[in-house]
Amino acid sequence: MNIILLGAPGAGKGTQAVKLAEKYRLLHISTGDIFRANIKGGTPIGKLAASYIDAGKLVPDDVTCEIVKDRLGKEDVKGGYMLDGFPRNLYQAEQLDGFAAIDVCLNIDVDPALLMDRICGRRVCSCGASYHVSTLNGKTTCARCGKELYVRKDDNPETVGARIETYEKQTAPLIDYYKKQGKLVAVDGGKGSPDEIFAEICKQLDKIL
Ligand code: AP5
Ligand code: MG
Repeated sequence: MNIILLGAPGAGKGTQAVKLAEKYRLLHISTGDIFRANIKGGTPIGKLAASYIDAGKLVPDDVTCEIVKDRLGKEDVKGGYMLDGFPRNLYQAEQLDGFAAIDVCLNIDVDPALLMDRICGRRVCSCGASYHVSTLNGKTTCARCGKELYVRKDDNPETVGARIETYEKQTAPLIDYYKKQGKLVAVDGGKGSPDEIFAEICKQLDKIL
């Protein structure tokens, strides 16, 4: 099964992807994580991506599509994957249709009023896990792997505002795009704990698997 995870910044795409990857044995491919790894490694892609990410804008389509096409050409995706954060506009969605067979687009819908607090309180781990500071009880290390947690550079109020605007203008129209293809599965990601939302997602996915 090949799934797209769609949702605003802070909707819970990464949180749910970790759980879904384990339950359905899917590969988690996050374009945001790929860009951050490139920034950390000081690669040319990382140098280009950093200025866009810091401004809350989309990294240019040609670079992003090439990365995803290349990644989906590898052998390890054959058992199924989840695309977290791709596609993010109509052009990317059309490109993806040309090189991948997507089964489901899972839209995690969250009231925009919740997003700022969720993101600005986020603490992440390099293993991919993500937490909210209010649930950590003062802990600064990852419950999954023990590494030190940190704050993402783009998780500040100014950049988050720009990211939400970019989402509304460019990414939200994809909900209709996948609805028309009959591939949309929607869940309310704003009410309930991550585990409760995960249970709802599984209920919906199990109906169509
Ligand atoms: P990316 O890394 O994809 O960031 P994003 O889309 O802004 O989404 P986030 O990772 O911030 O949120 P999330 O939905 O994963 O939420 P999470 O689970 O962590 O992209 C970053 C940048 O890279 C982009 O801005 C762009 O510049 C560039 N980029 C990436 N892809 C691109 C593309 N295709 N084209 C061009 N550019 C691209 O949860 C958030 C917080 O909420 C956490 O603290 C979590 O603990 C908490 N939380 C989760 N669920 C719940 C719940 N149920 N209740 C309460 N709190 C919860
Ligand atoms: Mg994420």
